[in-house]
Amino acid sequence: MKDKAILEYEGKKYEFPVVEGTEKELAIDIKTLRSSTGMITLDPGYKNTGSCESAITYLDGEKGILRYRGYNIEELAEKADFLETAYLLIFGELPNKEELDKFHDDIKHESHVDEEMKKILDAFPKSAHPMGVLSSLTSALIAFNPTSVNISSEKEMYYSIVRIMAKFPVLVAWTMRKQKGLPLDYGDDSLGYVENLHKMMFKRPNKEYVNNKIVIDALDQLLILHADHEQNCSTSTVRITGSSHAGLFVSLSAGISALWGPLHGGANQAVLEMLEAIEEDGGDTQKYMNKAKDKDDPFRLMGFGHRVYKNFDPRAKIIKRAADEVLSDLGIEDPILNIAKGLEKVALEDSYFVKRKLYPNVDFYSGIIYRALGIPTEMFTVMFAMGRLPGWIAQWREMRLRGEPIGRPRQVYIGENQRPFVPLKKR
Ligand code: ACO
Repeated sequence: MKDKAILEYEGKKYEFPVVEGTEKELAIDIKTLRSSTGMITLDPGYKNTGSCESAITYLDGEKGILRYRGYNIEELAEKADFLETAYLLIFGELPNKEELDKFHDDIKHESHVDEEMKKILDAFPKSAHPMGVLSSLTSALIAFNPTSVNISSEKEMYYSIVRIMAKFPVLVAWTMRKQKGLPLDYGDDSLGYVENLHKMMFKRPNKEYVNNKIVIDALDQLLILHADHEQNCSTSTVRITGSSHAGLFVSLSAGISALWGPLHGGANQAVLEMLEAIEEDGGDTQKYMNKAKDKDDPFRLMGFGHRVYKNFDPRAKIIKRAADEVLSDLGIEDPILNIAKGLEKVALEDSYFVKRKLYPNVDFYSGIIYRALGIPTEMFTVMFAMGRLPGWIAQWREMRLRGEPIGRPRQVYIGENQRPFVPLKKR
């Protein structure tokens, strides 16, 4: 343990332990703050609050570092595949061949989604946003897998994890196929995890599915880059929902809803819509930069800025390079990519963005790749959810295994003091 932190208030001194993480991050442990001082802390948006100790993901926003279980994101994106990364995040170590094969076999064994689920999907209008559909379907899965709710052993936990890893890609694919009016198929257990996802999404009823290595590799890499990002909005939602001992699936459903917002995962859809609007408007990037800087204009440069990164988001660097490669490999020329690069160049030199340390985030270039892979814009955030699945699972599992208490923040009440009730006719 490090030194103690001392709080002085009204002539009294209170001591609190200082906790040091494995990467030398320091935190004041205020667990006894209220009982010893009668006070609480106030931190809207939890900008200074550590909600847990976690051994899953490390990120240093100043240096632009992101690691899963100690492995640099750059190395994982280049050398690992998504299923290996999922195993690493959830169980803490890279799997050997035997462990990975067993994990995959267990997933394949659970890849069936009850046919009745199709009726639930059927009830949605085609125009429903896929994120709302995905969140509802993930929650609805509980009715067909009731044993996944009350977890009383690690074995039960493992099978809940395997079940959702197996069924979630089916739900993702069905969500898209419903919108496109395509039949709802199941996967092919002879394929790899990501290839199977791709086939389930894109297989046409009257055409043989032919895989494309460039496409599968790009998709795999995008999923890895999105797989975890410590205590962000959706992950915190998953943890806090699960902290009431609500089951894994419903905690994930809550996380999907949180991810949907344009300030979080929904930014990837918002970025592409913004780039398209700029293109339609003649491609004047400076005009949109000025809008973003104008405090009277609600417009924000989507895909820029991050709560934690005050330097380049390392995922954005990888995705930018991948966007160039994938478009060139697939022989696609997309004017949107040039607009994005132009916007980035102007922003990186503009004092407004420099002063506030606003850099492109993971969402700035990801939509361009998704678009090149034929994924509809409204499905972008669903793809993010697909990638984030193992991270959410890992965080939920860690929270349960550590026996964390129910999440329940306090508040500073600023409403009316006690007052007498006024009958309706006297108001
Ligand atoms: N465009 C213009 N100005 C911005 C932007 C932006 N994208 N982002 C932040 N700013 C400005 C704010 O207006 C504020 O300026 P001020 O100090 O003059 O008031 C300053 O930068 C700090 O911004 P905050 O909103 O206080 O920063 P916060 O950490 O709360 O928000 C967020 C981070 C939500 C990501 C924000 O940067 C944003 O809205 N970005 C656009 C949406 C986006 O890309 N979200 C995806 C994030 S990555 C992810 O979730 C996967």
